[in-house]
Amino acid sequence: MNKTNPGVAVVTGASSGIGRVTAKALQNAGFRVFGTSRRAVSKKSDGITMLTCDVTDDASVAKLVDEVLAQAGRIDLLVNNAGMGLLGGAEESSTAQAQALFDVNVFGIIRMINAVLPTMRRQGKGRIVNLSSVQGFIPAPYFALYSSTKHAIEGYSESLDHELRPFGIRVALVEPAYTRTSFEDNLARPDQLLDIYDAARAGMTIVVRKAMEEGDTPEVVASTVLAAATDPTPKRRYAAGKTARQVSLLRRFVPASAFDKSLRKQLGLPI
Ligand SMILES: NC(=O)c1ccc[n+]([C@@H]2O[C@H](COP(=O)([O-])OP(=O)(O)OC[C@H]3O[C@@H](n4cnc5c(N)ncnc54)[C@H](OP(=O)(O)O)[C@@H]3O)[C@@H](O)[C@H]2O)c1
Repeated sequence: MNKTNPGVAVVTGASSGIGRVTAKALQNAGFRVFGTSRRAVSKKSDGITMLTCDVTDDASVAKLVDEVLAQAGRIDLLVNNAGMGLLGGAEESSTAQAQALFDVNVFGIIRMINAVLPTMRRQGKGRIVNLSSVQGFIPAPYFALYSSTKHAIEGYSESLDHELRPFGIRVALVEPAYTRTSFEDNLARPDQLLDIYDAARAGMTIVVRKAMEEGDTPEVVASTVLAAATDPTPKRRYAAGKTARQVSLLRRFVPASAFDKSLRKQLGLPI
């Protein structure tokens, strides 16, 4: 595999949003791309082979990897993009709902990685790019569960990158800010609503809607994933777009108390 033929890529959640645009960007860069969706029947769409996969299901993940290997014989890049959000007070979700979210956003990534690693180790080469979020380093109120899934993959990815380097495999994180996709439409609603949070939840929904309308395009994130996938010496973290880069810098250099005040002010919360 070389610059003109960078190899075989698998992108989870390639049916919409960031995943769909990323799959196309990788294909334009020369990758042979397999995209996944829970609903896909095996078919080629715009040059990308779409395969069915539910990342919460071990058998479905194993079947996907077998299918890619049967068709392409190798996997050079895995982009763990499939994910979903949940907006509400932390105590408004049952433990079962929290587990279901972790099953997609965290264990889905772990399942996919464990399934491709034997192939990447055999090849002596591989790259894994995990979609985190600015919420992977800035926990936002009413996103406690979503934010904890992204913090979990930040820690997991960093540990893993240390472990896999001897095998020629690198792991990188991409951290987008608000991005214009169906993410907000697909946000899960808490399963044990408490009316004391009604006003805050409604207010936060408006803030998120506006931020998403004004957010980055998925192309901005896709080009960042492409950089993370192809940099000869990958960085551990790639903030995607100007806003993500700015808040990443602010988080590191602004004193915690000032950062806390500014976040609450922006979200219209009492200081
Ligand atoms: N949009 C943002 O503002 C934003 C910001 C930061 C980070 N992110 C992250 O970026 C990633 C992509 O989000 P997006 O904004 O593009 O959202 P999206 O448009 O809602 O797309 C989500 C994708 O995930 C797939 N998916 C969901 N559950 C799945 C499961 N159990 N198994 C397999 N695939 C599943 C969906 O595919 P099917 O429904 O076809 O199966 C869909 O293709 C997520 O990890 C998200 O956390 C998004």
